[in-house]
Amino acid sequence: MDITSSADIQSELTEQELLLGLDADQLPRHVAIIMDGNGRWASGRGLPRIAGHREGLAALREVINVFDELHIPMLTIYAFSHENWNRPKAEITLLMSLLDQFLQKERQTFQDRKMRFLPIGRLHLLPDAVQALVHEVANETAHYTDRILTVALSYGGRSEILDAVNDLLDDSRTGKISGPITESQFEHYLTTADLPDPDLLIRTSGEARISNFLLWQIAYTELYFTKVLWPDFRRREVLIALLDYQKRERRFGRVTQAVSPQSTL
Ligand code: IPE
Ligand code: IPE
Ligand code: MG
Repeated sequence: MDITSSADIQSELTEQELLLGLDADQLPRHVAIIMDGNGRWASGRGLPRIAGHREGLAALREVINVFDELHIPMLTIYAFSHENWNRPKAEITLLMSLLDQFLQKERQTFQDRKMRFLPIGRLHLLPDAVQALVHEVANETAHYTDRILTVALSYGGRSEILDAVNDLLDDSRTGKISGPITESQFEHYLTTADLPDPDLLIRTSGEARISNFLLWQIAYTELYFTKVLWPDFRRREVLIALLDYQKRERRFGRVTQAVSPQSTL
């Protein structure tokens, strides 16, 4: 699979031309991003990995601004996976302090933008001070519903599903719920209960894998893989990804509108 082919087609166009090519009525409502490649961005420049994480934060701010500009209401980012706890302690400490800085700095911006900050994952595993700040910012923005920034922290798709199953078993024992349960009942137990499934999932850095992100929720999500490293994923790259998304036909298991059902049987 050539994962850059769609980007190559767009590479000649200016940002303004890319923007004009977008259909404002066909934008995704919910985009999920696996922000990958910070370490490689830094080592390619002879810098320590943390420099890549810092630049990655700048890319995140720019992407949030573009989503604002395009009125895309929901963005879900993979910031720290359950498996990332296996990284060197020094890198984890620096990542946690970057998260802390990001929240301190953006706290007011969330209010100004009327944006909900929704953290998901096994948050109790985060260091106490960061955990407290995460909960504070989440609580003070919880009433905003029009725009949601979901941040996956200490997150794993499998552990999310397991946590949901265990909560369900508790509710079943106390008689709150009884089987057989439906998909929508199950979804209430997921950390993303308040969100629709993502329309588009972007992964940067050339890896074509999911790395335990949103396993239940991406059943019918369109996947977009790009070789661009996360710190380089700026406005132009967002526009290219959205144009690629708009070329897709989402069939959800049905046949295409143009083909009659009989002709495919
Ligand atoms: C993504 O970049 C950020 C996190 C996982 C926290 P990486 O740190 O994974 O960068 P690469 O993949 O090593 O280049
Ligand atoms: C996925 O990136 C997790 C985040 C972006 C937070 P990783 O770099 O941890 O994933 P793998 O190890 O390449 O699968
Ligand atoms: Mg990585």
